[in-house]
Amino acid sequence: MDHYLAPMEGITGYIYRNAVKEYFGVGIAKYFTPFLVVHEKRALTSKEMNDISPEHNEGINLVPQILADDAEGFLRVEAALSDLGYKEVNLNLGCPSKTVANKGRGSGFLSDPMALDEFLMRIYEGRHSEISIKTRIGTADTDEFDSLIEIFNRYPVKELTIHPRLRYEYYKGSPHRDVFYKGYARSENPVCYNGDVCSQADVDELLAGTGGRLESVMIGRGMLKDPSLIRRLNGGAPCSKQELKEFLKRLRLDYSQLFCGERPVLQKLKELWNYMGPMFPGREAAIKSLLKCRSLSEYRVLEMQILG
Ligand SMILES: Cc1cc2nc3c(=O)[nH]c(=O)nc-3n(C[C@H](O)[C@H](O)[C@H](O)COP(=O)(O)O)c2cc1C
Repeated sequence: MDHYLAPMEGITGYIYRNAVKEYFGVGIAKYFTPFLVVHEKRALTSKEMNDISPEHNEGINLVPQILADDAEGFLRVEAALSDLGYKEVNLNLGCPSKTVANKGRGSGFLSDPMALDEFLMRIYEGRHSEISIKTRIGTADTDEFDSLIEIFNRYPVKELTIHPRLRYEYYKGSPHRDVFYKGYARSENPVCYNGDVCSQADVDELLAGTGGRLESVMIGRGMLKDPSLIRRLNGGAPCSKQELKEFLKRLRLDYSQLFCGERPVLQKLKELWNYMGPMFPGREAAIKSLLKCRSLSEYRVLEMQILG
């Protein structure tokens, strides 16, 4: 089975990807960029170029993700990515955030199947590279996925990653795995599963539900909680405290080089601790202080208290 690192805006940029690759890269078959948006004047901003430039992603099998609601804009970004050598781009049909979905992008696109069909027809006609899709199962009702799968089946989707939650469920409740299994059976395109995978038991359940045929799983928050998760799913060792310390040090130094001042560096590290915190029972007080601390020197003392 292939394991992918999910796109996570604000987290899985090139600095994070390179640190994960160095310390926990075993078994990560693909990395996805956080979504790139369409701009009026140019295909990619300098910040986006910096994130996807091949020299910042050496040895990383990277798939850039695009968030768009107009085919022309999508194809402009896709062409620029193809010029940089990317052979696959991913279309985001999953983002539930109001600022995105209310404009008909991300999971907001799923409530207008006719417009989506037209959009897909135009991008698959005009593309230079393979296009994979990451989608939710609908807006407000799981039955919507039947007709969405029919639409996806009209196109040569390189891989359809299904996060089996509805737009309005955000990340709440359990994923609708029953809907995933039905969609898996009906899809004529290769399917990847995404959503709440944190252990081998989760993968075993998905394999059982697909008759042992599921070929790929995309993991997001599970990797933030335990960056060795994919390595463990591939038979490798769990994360040692020493490895975690080195991984966090690498992130701290690389972010410090990228950003001006300590604040944005602290923000990035705290965001990770939001996910890793529960992995350290008994260290709640230190974690709470770390999440509130205002300087990197304070942060380092607290990190030492947590990790020993
Ligand atoms: C902080 C954060 C940022 C995210 N950004 C993106 C994004 O840019 N593109 C995308 O398709 N999904 C994004 N997602 C959704 C994840 O890729 C994934 O679908 C979701 O977290 C469910 O998978 P998981 O349970 O393995 O985390 C984001 C999720 C989180 C928590």
